[in-house]
Amino acid sequence: MNSPPDEYGVFGHPVSHSLSPFIHGLFARTTGQSMNYRPYDVAPGEFAERVRAFFAGGGRGLNVTLPHKIAAVEVADELTARAAHAAAVNTLALKGDGILGDNTDGAGLVRDLCDNLGLIITNRRVLVLGAGGATRGVLAPLLGLAPATVVIANRTPARAEALAAAFADLGATQGVGFEYLEPEPFDLVINATSASLSGEMPPVPHGVIGAHTVCYDLAYGKSATAFVDWARAQGCARALQGLGMLVEQAAESFRLWRGVRPATGAVLEVLRERVGVD
Ligand code: ATR
Repeated sequence: MNSPPDEYGVFGHPVSHSLSPFIHGLFARTTGQSMNYRPYDVAPGEFAERVRAFFAGGGRGLNVTLPHKIAAVEVADELTARAAHAAAVNTLALKGDGILGDNTDGAGLVRDLCDNLGLIITNRRVLVLGAGGATRGVLAPLLGLAPATVVIANRTPARAEALAAAFADLGATQGVGFEYLEPEPFDLVINATSASLSGEMPPVPHGVIGAHTVCYDLAYGKSATAFVDWARAQGCARALQGLGMLVEQAAESFRLWRGVRPATGAVLEVLRERVGVD
């Protein structure tokens, strides 16, 4: 008799908007893996207990999305180096008798930038807007590509300075307030603030975008985000939303769980049609 499919899922609050069940469903079909992947709406107060119950009940792996990525660090018995650097976990996997916490967000970003978009980061100047959890999650993988510099600009300068100092051993970093940004074009500008979520734009001075600058928003939506609109208005020829990062981080989680890396190109195409992102 066939054994039942292995159980996976995503814990979030809210979770109904999550594209992960759709993405992992396609991955499972294209790689022939016998698995289910379901969304679970889990309130913050019950997160740790529900994670333990999921794994105790035979569950094999979870994605963790807002607002649980920091709480997931505590629930893991062991962390990968990249999850420890990020101080946040987006993937939990059964490992022996324990739960392994990983973070595939940064790897997903780097894969989208380098493999899908064909960008070269080595020796290039990178500006990251924001100094919250999203920035912390992508800094180590970005610095791993040996950019000339990563400048972190934030509304609250002290947070940018603290992050720059925390990652200084991995490469050239600098933390500043937006008003201290020199009007010199960067090669890549990444929006990692949560401002897009409310349709706002961080107060980035003119001059950091040049004709060759690529702009990348970690967020995505049905229409262009405020950051993508702003970047285009500054003359940016290549301003992109983070749908590719979403698919690539999912592929990296899938590989951790199943030992197979799914192809992402076709899934990204389907999602672009579905979400309507250009
Ligand atoms: P996340 O986990 O999404 O990164 P976070 O840790 O709360 O969330 O960080 C949010 C980031 O977006 C911060 O850098 C925040 O700036 P502050 O550190 O000054 O709070 C930034 N942010 C949010 N709304 C913003 C806005 N309207 N303009 C500029 N920056 C904003």
